[in-house]
Amino acid sequence: MPLIPVLQDKRVVLGVSGSIAAYKAVALASALTQAGALVDVAMTHEATELVRPLSFQAITHRPVAVDMFHLLAETEIGHVSLGLNADAIVVAPATAHTLAKLALGLADDMIATTVLASRAPVLVAPAMDANMYQHPTVAEHLEVLRQRGCAILEPGYGHLASGLVGRGRLAEPETILEAVRAVLGRRGDLAGWQVVVTAGGTQEPIDPVRFVSNRSSGKMGFALAEAARDRGAHVILIAANVALPDPYGVEVRRVRTAQEMAEQVLEAVPGADALLMAAAVADYRPEQPAEHKLKKRSEELALRLVPTTDILASTARAGFTALRVGFAAESEHLLEHARAKLEQKGLDLIVANDVTLPGSGFGADDNKVTILGRDGLERDLPLLPKLQVAYAVLDQVRRLRGGAPDVGSFDRLRSFDRLRMSGGRGDAETYSSPPDFGRPT
Ligand code: PMT
Repeated sequence: MPLIPVLQDKRVVLGVSGSIAAYKAVALASALTQAGALVDVAMTHEATELVRPLSFQAITHRPVAVDMFHLLAETEIGHVSLGLNADAIVVAPATAHTLAKLALGLADDMIATTVLASRAPVLVAPAMDANMYQHPTVAEHLEVLRQRGCAILEPGYGHLASGLVGRGRLAEPETILEAVRAVLGRRGDLAGWQVVVTAGGTQEPIDPVRFVSNRSSGKMGFALAEAARDRGAHVILIAANVALPDPYGVEVRRVRTAQEMAEQVLEAVPGADALLMAAAVADYRPEQPAEHKLKKRSEELALRLVPTTDILASTARAGFTALRVGFAAESEHLLEHARAKLEQKGLDLIVANDVTLPGSGFGADDNKVTILGRDGLERDLPLLPKLQVAYAVLDQVRRLRGGAPDVGSFDRLRSFDRLRMSGGRGDAETYSSPPDFGRPT
């Protein structure tokens, strides 16, 4: 799990109440810790019957709070200070009993007290029997919490410990982690922005079963969407043929062809603050796709290709105020070709992408890019996880739109130091920093 800037050194309180799904909270604590958060676990006594506090302590390397007035813990943690120092609180799993306490403001255990004493954003992930979840009392308590600004992560549908099949399964740890990121980002430096991102590779049909396409996995575009979401933006992600699941808290529109992508972009971009085109859009499409599957014949088959709409170029109209960022995947003369595209398409920024480097570009988890700006910017980044690249691109977008100076650069640089120590991904000295996410509401 790579470090996630929005979680870096953030204090996340993980409240674990007594559902059989408490075991999943161990994986969540581990993922949050690996992503860079400082995780303080608070458990109800019922939860300790299901998972021992030691499991959490071993993973988070921090004491686990169970007793409200444990003398030793009281000096180190404090039954109130846990909440006061939190950047975010996530209650997962949240039982019907714990939801009731939170809704009513009862404070007789570490989770309820911590939530009550805190002004940090709260995320609640319920888990219980399907009949309990459908009970009007639980629905009322959830509604009260929602009205107070709590984020609620709906449980999933499936087999439950009671033997019933229904809604009540705790959301998966990966989904909860994403929801924590979104909650922390609510007051990020892109709060109030609308960001349109494209991802994946378009498919241009030859016949009903064949198409012309490329090897884009969509990972770069999805990383951009997640990073913008982490920083508080409302994100519209237009994804062409991407196998990845919808990122939490992002509005996803699935398309197939360059034409469909063009229509969605032109619909989304008016009113947007930024357009980030990471998609590999086909430059050509078969002129006349066959209505039925083409039959194999002995003679040659010639496909006549015609140009597709240049989506970026068509967003250069007067009236569109979005800052426009293109990507250029190049196998030679990287900067020269990227600069030409920056110029031709009238872009504000272009991300020159060296796709010849092993482990970079199409399909890879990492990317090696240089960010070029119309204002003369040339920022060469080392090979980095795509999420880190996405943050760096957004730093430049924010700079161009006159954003306030970033906060927390020291934390960010330390994260890259840690990356260097663990994987040796190179120099990071050119980075600016992420904002101070997760300020208490
Ligand atoms: O998806 P991944 O597997 O993570 O891989 C990421 C990536 C390599 C696809 C991505 O980082 C990348 O480089 N995307 C751009 C791919 C490309 O080759 O673009 P281009 O040089 O053909 O086009 C330049 C820009 O114009 C791009 O922003 C493209 O989206 C845009 N374009 C292209 C054609 C077209 N008809 N309309 C467009 O708007």
